[in-house]
Amino acid sequence: MPIYNPDDHERNGFDENALRFQGLLTQHDGLLIASPEYNGSFPAALKNAIDWASRPSDEYERDKVFRGKFAAIMTASPGSFGGIRSLAHLRGVLMSIGVEVLSAEIAVSFVGDKFDGDGEEMTDEKTKNTLEKLGASLVEMLGKTHGEIKFMSNTNS
Ligand SMILES: Cc1cc2nc3c(=O)[nH]c(=O)nc-3n(C[C@H](O)[C@H](O)[C@H](O)COP(=O)(O)O)c2cc1C
Repeated sequence: MPIYNPDDHERNGFDENALRFQGLLTQHDGLLIASPEYNGSFPAALKNAIDWASRPSDEYERDKVFRGKFAAIMTASPGSFGGIRSLAHLRGVLMSIGVEVLSAEIAVSFVGDKFDGDGEEMTDEKTKNTLEKLGASLVEMLGKTHGEIKFMSNTNS
């Protein structure tokens, strides 16, 4: 997605990828967001994706993109703070667009030590358990508020 700019938006229309993202958000009620920390906050690319999706398009109802959705947030970093500073920023942004962010959140410190080599499997059982609990809390909340639950996973963004 290009960097959001209202003048470019007016000139060039709604970005195609941003529209796809808006469509995915519209179809889902829960967001499990895992993001690194960049200079004490969450990365500009994530903020930009949120900014795009928060703009009105001709395709999707604005109130169905973010408002009233539930989110659980987590971060990880090679350092001892585990990216914790980014979570308050992400929480604030999500709340400002009407997303209910669960009070529980996770910052995984020394993340490089918690995976098996360069594999994808987390070997630190305690952290794995905490992460699974956060996911379960989100599912439980959605179960209470929405009944039937559908899942979408995108590990590439
Ligand atoms: C521009 C930039 C800023 C970063 N700032 C922080 C930071 O403030 N705190 C932190 O713990 N790690 C910081 N890092 C390290 C990231 O946590 C680390 O690169 C990230 O976990 C790697 O993610 P990846 O393995 O998904 O690429 C920064 C990395 C970059 C590229």
